Amino acid sequence: MTDKTLPGAARPPLGMDVPAHVAIIMDGNGRWAAARGLPRFEGHRRGVEALRRTVRAAIDLGVSWLTVYSFSSENWARPADEVGGLMSLLRLFIRNDLADLHANNVRVRVIGDRAGLPPDIAPLIVEAEETTRANTGLTLMVAFNYGGRQEIVAVARALAAEAAAGRLDPQAIDERMFAARLWTQDAPDPDLVIRTSGEERLSNFLPWQAAYSEFVFTPILWPDFDGHALKQALDAFARRERRFGGVGALAKKTGS
Ligand code: FPP
Repeated sequence: MTDKTLPGAARPPLGMDVPAHVAIIMDGNGRWAAARGLPRFEGHRRGVEALRRTVRAAIDLGVSWLTVYSFSSENWARPADEVGGLMSLLRLFIRNDLADLHANNVRVRVIGDRAGLPPDIAPLIVEAEETTRANTGLTLMVAFNYGGRQEIVAVARALAAEAAAGRLDPQAIDERMFAARLWTQDAPDPDLVIRTSGEERLSNFLPWQAAYSEFVFTPILWPDFDGHALKQALDAFARRERRFGGVGALAKKTGS
């Protein structure tokens, strides 16, 4: 795990600083399967099991929001059978896990472009969101057919249309108005972004929202991810000092 904490940075005791919003790029399913001589789909199927473990652990660790990158706008470039497999896994996840998620007070949301999905999926998503709408525990946001740049362009287009129609003064557009129209709407920005499998990039995942996120990269392949790995990432987060463009507490104290 790469922990880029600077020497001398304030280090609160472990576990004291739980991120409200954790976002995860669940990477490495294909390599996990290949290493075992299994089809890629088996890696994705085991990835769903890792997701179940991670949701359970996030609840236990006191995380309020968990966003997972399940299918990106760019994943359509994969072979048709793999794309179809990922669509089926979303269907199965909602059918098999919705009751359990609901019983655990989890609120489910799905972000991404629904129009581009097979027509039977949108009603399933609506069912998951409606069933769990009033839940007050963890909010699980599943990013599916999600692309961050596409999300930003859609907001820009909508605002431009309103301005062109004379219903919006361009000067009134600010970060708050823009953010409220993103798919993530009222969600707090992710405090922590985790990427598994040793890759260290954002891949069009929440580029607006992750502007000030902390990053933890772990070599663990997603199907092997579990509560212990999540706790390790949260511990690394707790050792970071977030400055949001300002100066750190230490610098303030010493005037350095
Ligand atoms: C990246 O691994 C993972 C994905 C593109 C899909 C992630 C999906 C799941 C974990 C399961 C689906 C969950 C739901 C709720 C539908 P990769 O295939 O790019 O791995 P590789 O880089 O090793 O090839």
